[in-house]
Amino acid sequence: MWLELTRSCNLNCIHCYAEATPNEGGSNLPFGDIRKVISELAEAGCSAIQLTGGEPLLTPYLMDIIGLLVEAGFKYIELFSNLTLLTDDQASVLKRYGVRVATSIYASEGAVHDAITRTKGGFEKTVQGVQLLRSYGIPMRIAVIVLPLNAERVEETVTFVREELGVEHVTLGPVLPAGRGREVPPVPPDWWRPKLTSFATLACIRKEDFAVRLHGHSCWYGRLCISPNGDVFPCPFVRNWLIGNVREQSLSTILRSDSLLRAWGLSKDRIEVCRDCEFRYMCFDCRAKAPTLFGKPRDCTYDPYTGIGNGVRWRDQTVAKVDQTPLAVGKTTLHKGGGQACYA
Ligand SMILES: C[S@@+](CC[C@H](N)C(=O)[O-])C[C@H]1O[C@@H](n2cnc3c(N)ncnc32)[C@H](O)[C@@H]1O
Ligand code: SF4
Ligand code: SF4
Repeated sequence: MWLELTRSCNLNCIHCYAEATPNEGGSNLPFGDIRKVISELAEAGCSAIQLTGGEPLLTPYLMDIIGLLVEAGFKYIELFSNLTLLTDDQASVLKRYGVRVATSIYASEGAVHDAITRTKGGFEKTVQGVQLLRSYGIPMRIAVIVLPLNAERVEETVTFVREELGVEHVTLGPVLPAGRGREVPPVPPDWWRPKLTSFATLACIRKEDFAVRLHGHSCWYGRLCISPNGDVFPCPFVRNWLIGNVREQSLSTILRSDSLLRAWGLSKDRIEVCRDCEFRYMCFDCRAKAPTLFGKPRDCTYDPYTGIGNGVRWRDQTVAKVDQTPLAVGKTTLHKGGGQACYA
């Protein structure tokens, strides 16, 4: 569950899918609506949530929201923040409530990070925020989004995050074409070519994921994103599929709506070209990477009508590899761009 608390942000990243800016005042869900949503979510059995934005630390009642979540029995609460505004008091509350934190570092070099966030001095403050959280022993993960500006330095950045900031959990992801991300030119093709969907990435599937993919969407099945004006989407990056609005309907109405069932039930059987592919129940699907709501993702080179992808016949590889590879190979969490970088 993603709860976007605000569209305001003190930074102004060039790729921001939420199109957050410092000038987006007054677009927050009122506290009363948030209280209602939290109790409805808890009633529906939801226990994992990410608080995001925009910049959630700009929400004046953020710590009260976290208190409500804890009271309602949420077991997994993650705050996704750029950390530039984090205070010692807030860090101690996060520790007390057992909140996990995610943040974004774009480079080990401050000037590159600041060029991406278009805010001078932001890197220093984010690093200080990470250090403050580490001093409290708060569990953290760091997202490195790969753009043309930092693509050359990704390995260096991961080393910096792990060795200098002491945060082991790093996720790499591409810029998805949503919001301002649509205007960002693609990274040099050589960076991504080895990471395109391939038989090797398809083989990394667990039995339980395969079961979901038979009848539902591989990523957003069971998930919802609530935006700052109350609109509900299946994914923060797919805003052209409006499911409902929590200010106008109860969450239980939204959960029973045809629109949500259609979104959650979007297996590859309903995606153009993919519906004819023999790998469709093994394949991860990122709708943000597709040219249209039901189009084949752009990062797949496989043509199920010829059996050829990346210049080779996949079916031959399949026979050779499936024989040696158990279906449950374990979950890929640090994944360079095969579509499984996950923000929830
Ligand atoms: C929207 S931000 C909100 C939280 C916070 N303001 C921050 O930046 O860490 C959450 C994450 O989404 C990433 N993000 C923003 N736009 C993106 C895009 N077009 N494609 C992929 N990731 C994106 C950001 O880099 C950040 O890691
Ligand atoms: S990615 Fe995060 S920090 Fe950057 S503008 Fe968007 S909300 Fe703000
Ligand atoms: S054609 Fe579709 S289902 Fe087949 S491998 Fe490519 S993205 Fe996956």
